[in-house]
Amino acid sequence: MKAIVWQGTNKVGVETVPDPTLLLPTDAIVKITSTAICGSDLHLLDGFIPSMEKGDILGHEFMGEVVEVGRDVKKLKVGDRVIVPFNIACGACDPCKRGFFSACDNSNPNHRMAEAMYGAVSGGGLFGYSHMYGGYAGGQAQYVRVPFADVGPFKIESDLKDEQVLFLTDIFPTGYQAAMNCDIVPGRDVVAVFGAGPVGQFSARSAQMLGAAHVIVIDRVPERLAMAQAAGCQVINYEQEDVLIALREATGGRGPDHVIDAVGMEAHGHGPGSALDKMQQSLRLSFDRITALRWAILSCAKGGTVSMPGVYGGLIDKLPMGAAFAKGLVFRMGQTHTHKYLPDLLGRIEGGQIDPTFVITHRASLDQAPELYKTFRDKHDGCVKVVLNPWA
Ligand SMILES: NC(=O)c1ccc[n+]([C@@H]2O[C@H](COP(=O)([O-])OP(=O)(O)OC[C@H]3O[C@@H](n4cnc5c(N)ncnc54)[C@H](O)[C@@H]3O)[C@@H](O)[C@H]2O)c1
Ligand SMILES: [Zn+2]
Ligand SMILES: [Zn+2]
Repeated sequence: MKAIVWQGTNKVGVETVPDPTLLLPTDAIVKITSTAICGSDLHLLDGFIPSMEKGDILGHEFMGEVVEVGRDVKKLKVGDRVIVPFNIACGACDPCKRGFFSACDNSNPNHRMAEAMYGAVSGGGLFGYSHMYGGYAGGQAQYVRVPFADVGPFKIESDLKDEQVLFLTDIFPTGYQAAMNCDIVPGRDVVAVFGAGPVGQFSARSAQMLGAAHVIVIDRVPERLAMAQAAGCQVINYEQEDVLIALREATGGRGPDHVIDAVGMEAHGHGPGSALDKMQQSLRLSFDRITALRWAILSCAKGGTVSMPGVYGGLIDKLPMGAAFAKGLVFRMGQTHTHKYLPDLLGRIEGGQIDPTFVITHRASLDQAPELYKTFRDKHDGCVKVVLNPWA
């Protein structure tokens, strides 16, 4: 089959690789009909997530048709149309039972790999996202093996198009969890979102759905800001305005009640902190450039929440912890517990409350994907979200 493969830092290619096979009785094989490139894939492209190996198949936002099931799979049958959460969860361990699916104890055989680096184990398995996260083949391919097939895949029985439900596998629940984590008081709270990429867009719309009185989105890419503005958000271009002053002015001096960092480890910025991050990251002294997180902490109102869907990779230097402590901020973060939010969000799509296709700017084949990884990373050609058809 054809698949998108990691070939080293800054190198992604299309290769012909063996088709996946069932390895365990609880597996299914899915023929992929639509898949997408995520901002998290850019951290792999740029070489900031350790434990990638040449030949690893990328991709964790995908959906398709079940073509084979293991003998212990009860809920799925051949022919079912499914969306598949990007995290792999057993559904039976203590974290899974409590709804913390991305912290599954049983889906990541390599969870100890992270111990040497962080001093703590990593979370559950992820499709196409390094050996530290289980070494599972990803879904930017024609077929994929799906472990715990009775737990992850979610059947789509309505006639919604792939593009309308595809983002339920990652970026929509990710934005939604980021907003849920803010415990927004409807009609009162102001929410600021750093980053107007796909995750920022869904965070902002989710904050609106959850009743935020006002949502402010910060970025520097004009078409991404325009997309947020079209949804009724106030926007701030951090290259044209001092973002900390602008946020204070927009909130009567108190700062946003909650701030979502939908940027993560590859933030851009200016000032001495940003220069230090860049230098440390280029020397591999640090994994993370944290300008957005710094701004989130500095701008957030007293007693507010800093919600972090943006991915971080390692030990962070020069984090304004004193400011966070003085203001009594709450930090919420992590990989999304996708399974938990799927039914509710599918209902919202079916009910016409949101149409996730607004974010798509590029549609292409797998052969075009290596070029589009760069277009998406460099924010060229108005690119916000790429959807791939593996059979085109
Ligand atoms: N927690 C999860 O489960 C989960 C799931 C999906 C994605 N993510 C993460 O969410 C983050 C965003 O993903 P995406 O797909 O939207 O990526 P993206 O790269 O398309 O978007 C990031 C945006 O942040 C902007 N940005 C950079 N520095 C900034 C700054 N200092 N202030 C404000 N904006 C700034 C960029 O211009 C860009 O528009 C990534 O870190 C990704 O890994 C996490
Ligand atoms: Zn993702
Ligand atoms: Zn589990």
